[in-house]
Order: sequence, then structure tokens, then C-alpha cells
Amino acid sequence: MAATLYAFGAMSHKDVTAIYPGTFDPLTNGHLDLISRGSKIVDQLVVAILRNSDKGAPLFSVPEREEMLREATAGFGNVTVATFDGLLVDFAKMRGAQAVLRGIRAISDYEYEFQMAMMNRKLNPEIETLFMMPAEKYTYVSSRLIKGVYRLGGDVTSLVPPLVMERLKSKVAAD
Ligand code: PNS
Repeated sequence: MAATLYAFGAMSHKDVTAIYPGTFDPLTNGHLDLISRGSKIVDQLVVAILRNSDKGAPLFSVPEREEMLREATAGFGNVTVATFDGLLVDFAKMRGAQAVLRGIRAISDYEYEFQMAMMNRKLNPEIETLFMMPAEKYTYVSSRLIKGVYRLGGDVTSLVPPLVMERLKSKVAAD
């Protein structure tokens, strides 16, 4: 026991910065759950919104998504919000990050995430991908489903932060 404690004590602490990238259109409680978990593991967590997503027309503009993320993560001392274009590994390097954080909800996420992680490793072997699982109650939540269900009149109140709910109301009413 003492030897173990000594070993831990002797370990040098690395200042780890991780990037949590995504489209965040919009931010969900699943994303927030992952941000909370990630922020406890790394020293600095940069939530990075992809500006040139190929997912088709977004519901919220990048500045709107940025604003929602900033508001929702204001309580975390080590979380910042940024936007990026181009390759994720280039952005990670530019920010001095050693890792990329991604959430895996179900087996169905795995294949896509594995491919991305391997491609990112090929592009920059120095950047590791860390996977974390969100709370069980959010394993079926995705931005795509939230938008679809809300547009059809479904109640998503418990699945997104209140500030996102407010924006969803005015956005969809204006559509
Ligand atoms: O929330 P999403 O839409 O699943 O996030 C996807 C994202 C932003 C992580 C991914 O599309 C990405 O990293 N795009 C940047 C372009 C890039 O680096 N491509 C090579 C990695 S496969």
C-alpha cells in the first residue's frame, strides 16, 4: 500500500488539454453530461463547434450554438468554448491539446467513432482519443432526434438545458 502511494506521489502531473468536438445543433443534456465528466478528468476542456459541418442546413447558426454552449458551461471553471474549421487534429495541435474527447452512447456509435479515432491517429499520432459514456438516461438522446421530436410537438424538456429549450421554442415558432 505504502509503495503504491509512493509511486503515485512520484508521478509527474501532466497538464492535459482535451478537445470535445461536435456539431452541437443544439446542445443536449447528453453533451452537458459528457462535458461534466470530461472536465473532471482533464485539466482544460475545450468544447469545439465545427463551423463547416456537412450535415445539411443547421437549425441554429454557429454563433447561436456558441452562445448556448457558453451559457450552459459557465459554471465549469476549466471549460472553454471555441469554433473550428478544417481538420480536428490541426485545431487540437493549435490549442496545445493532447486528446480528443468523444462520447459513445451505444454500440451503433462505435463504428463511426472508431473510424474517426483511427483516422485522427493516422493524421496525428500524438493526439489520443478518449471515449466516455454519458449517463444511462441520455444514451438515446441526439441533437437530430431532439430537433425532429420537438418539431412534431413532442416534449423534450428533460433532455436539453432550459436555455436551449427557450431557444428551440422561439426558433421553431419562427420557422
Ligand atoms: O457531433 P458530430 O457531428 O458527430 O461531430 C463530428 C466531428 C465534428 C467530430 C467531425 O465531423 C470532425 O472532427 N470534423 C472535422 C474534420 C476532420 O477532422 N475530419 C477527419 C476526422 S475523420
